[in-house]
Amino acid sequence: MTDGMAQEIRALLKERNAILLAHNYQRPEIQDVADLTGDSLDLSIRAAKTNADVILFCGVRFMAETASIVSPDKTVLMPRLDTGCPMADMITPEALKTRLAKLGKMPVVTYVNSTASVKAHSTVCCTSANAVAVVNSLAEDEVLMTPDRNLCQFVASRSNKKIHCWDGFCPVHDRLRAEEVMHAKAAYPEAVFMAHPECRPEVLTLADAVLSTSGMIGFAKESDRKSFIVGTEEGLIYPLQKANPDKSFYRVSESMVCEDMKRTTLDDVLVALKAMKHEVKVSKEVSVPASRAVERMLEITVS
Ligand code: 13P
Ligand code: SF4
Repeated sequence: MTDGMAQEIRALLKERNAILLAHNYQRPEIQDVADLTGDSLDLSIRAAKTNADVILFCGVRFMAETASIVSPDKTVLMPRLDTGCPMADMITPEALKTRLAKLGKMPVVTYVNSTASVKAHSTVCCTSANAVAVVNSLAEDEVLMTPDRNLCQFVASRSNKKIHCWDGFCPVHDRLRAEEVMHAKAAYPEAVFMAHPECRPEVLTLADAVLSTSGMIGFAKESDRKSFIVGTEEGLIYPLQKANPDKSFYRVSESMVCEDMKRTTLDDVLVALKAMKHEVKVSKEVSVPASRAVERMLEITVS
């Protein structure tokens, strides 16, 4: 059944000159049928370099918006429109303007896990992998970071700047407790604990490595260690195991599941491709300043 559906999807992708992108947290059968898997920004940048006319993004809405910002001439589709990100929705451009009016003029560094309209009101974007480098590259001594308070505190622990944190958080990563980590470490004493910077500071203190999702895949591949406790959404276990069949990966907790990421099914992908829906288009008014914030980040991290 799944194989037949996957074949139908591959045939339709060819017919539509479309490319299928899947975030590292998507269901295994979606990762398997995708052209590209990875983290959100990396997927958008790689897709922009292809000659596909259509991008079908399996992830959450802000990811499809980023694809539209980076590839304004391509049609960007999502299998479902009800896949949001609670953290991205914890800030609006209006609330950001109000906070800045109180704090005074300073650069705004916004995590790529944010809506296009918030990016458009930001000085520069960052990813979980480059946030420290982006903040430290700025000339100003005072910075506002949005929307993730945990990533912000992680950066603050590695920077001499005065950093104001927006009070947003990823419910999936923020729910992980230090006691659960201690429990997993006791169960797998030989394992390396990898944690995502969206986790709480007391969890990151216990980590052997603090990494983005793609960073975890690279780290596990390079490491000569054989077992790992995975401190991020459970979907990452699948690509980790696929890339490292001789190594073992353990969930740090059973509760790290992002409902929005898991909502998309293979059936949704097929239906969306057949009907060429649902288009995500960021208006020029938003995409031009948002793209400037993304470009600034790339100039800092590539140079
Ligand atoms: P990365 O894949 O960029 O590390 O982001 C994690 C995440 O929470 C995506 O929703
Ligand atoms: Fe948003 Fe967290 Fe889900 Fe990622 S894992 S989409 S940051 S809620």
